Amino acid sequence: MSLKHKAAAPAADSSLFDQSELQYQSGFGNDFATEALAGTLPVGRNSPQRVAHGLYAEQISGTAFTAPRDVNRRSWVYRIRPGAVHSPFKPYSNAWVEEPLCAQPEPNPMRWNPLPIPAQPTDFIDSWRLFAGNGAPQSMSGCAIYMYCATESMGHRYFYNGDGELLIVPQEGRLGIKTEFGLLRVEPQEMVVIPRGCRFNVSLLDGHARGYICENYGALLRLPDLGPIGSNGLALSRDFETPVAWYEDQEGDYELIAKFQGALWCASIGHAPCDVVAWHGNYAPYKYDMRRFNTIGTISFDHPDPSLFLVLQSPSYAPGVDDIDFVIFPPRWLVAENTFRPPWFHRNVASEFMGLVQGQYDAKSGGFVPGGASLHNCMVSHGPDAETFDKASNEDTSQPRKVTDTLAFMFETRVPLLPSNEALGSPLRQKDYYLCWQSVARHFNSGESV
Ligand SMILES: [Fe+2]
Repeated sequence: MSLKHKAAAPAADSSLFDQSELQYQSGFGNDFATEALAGTLPVGRNSPQRVAHGLYAEQISGTAFTAPRDVNRRSWVYRIRPGAVHSPFKPYSNAWVEEPLCAQPEPNPMRWNPLPIPAQPTDFIDSWRLFAGNGAPQSMSGCAIYMYCATESMGHRYFYNGDGELLIVPQEGRLGIKTEFGLLRVEPQEMVVIPRGCRFNVSLLDGHARGYICENYGALLRLPDLGPIGSNGLALSRDFETPVAWYEDQEGDYELIAKFQGALWCASIGHAPCDVVAWHGNYAPYKYDMRRFNTIGTISFDHPDPSLFLVLQSPSYAPGVDDIDFVIFPPRWLVAENTFRPPWFHRNVASEFMGLVQGQYDAKSGGFVPGGASLHNCMVSHGPDAETFDKASNEDTSQPRKVTDTLAFMFETRVPLLPSNEALGSPLRQKDYYLCWQSVARHFNSGESV
């Protein structure tokens, strides 16, 4: 059974999200306490016999109850109605969730053009397109990677994902996101994480919006340890922003869409779901402005591994090996002497899904465009194209050079990524991608030294 929109999406109220700009708190994994009505949060206990203002107490746990304290995530929310107040979920049909992954993927480098703007009105949830994935929600390990391109706000439709947290990287168009924990406005060059189970609603603030999503089935994303880098550098904890409490007290005809075990479900609900008046805890959405990333690189020679550009990681059970690394390549100075400065030719045990938010990526002269994507799977050879190789081989490396107007990123995974059948057969796929290396010239001369 397929349920459709019950209400046309109203125009996005961007002024609502303007107000939210002043309401952020700072910190990553902090224990927050925030209330939209004074005197709501109980003192000395989480679930008093009666909550102030006639509210209901509800705990949302994002980790096992017994998880060690430093990774334990849970929040207590105090809301107008408990989350259980809705009609039974019924199957919700949508092409993107029914799209299978390819069981026998080819070991070729792959690249795609950006998703076109849909001809039909399409909201954020209906606009996802599955590109690749690994693992499974059932095993609570792995991820799915989507791209979205939406043209209308969600209106009275709300969504939660029971399969994983969502790392959303907008490429075009600002998103106004109502969540149970408060309001977020997110723009290109920022990223946002919506926790598993968190109910939310997306308004488009600029007519249409396009971007990338990594659905993380595994351990919650966290900041990496810094090791020899020291106590500062890369993404700073204080730059991760979490909303303060905000609530909507609206009765009406609403829909709650859920993703659970790879399928979509829909329930009707007689009130707006973001009715949390106050909350405390450390399980909540957060956003991060990638322009604040403290990029670290060589100041002598050679090209460090991309792990140095790590923003967030989802650790696996193997020490030092992550299920997912979220890595960015922002503007930066290149100063390495007598060095080939762009990323070299390489093959990795890890698999790399890349996107480009803006500008140009320094390993490619063309073809990899903003809004596009590439996939270089486990041990698939890739690297600079022929034009980039020639340019970088002849660059004067006695002079520093600044890479400007660029923001590329990578969802890097421990397990190979299976592309979706839709992505493999998509007209957006650049089937001639391999040609960018075929004109790499032979320079070998056994009688000549460098
Ligand atoms: Fe690579």
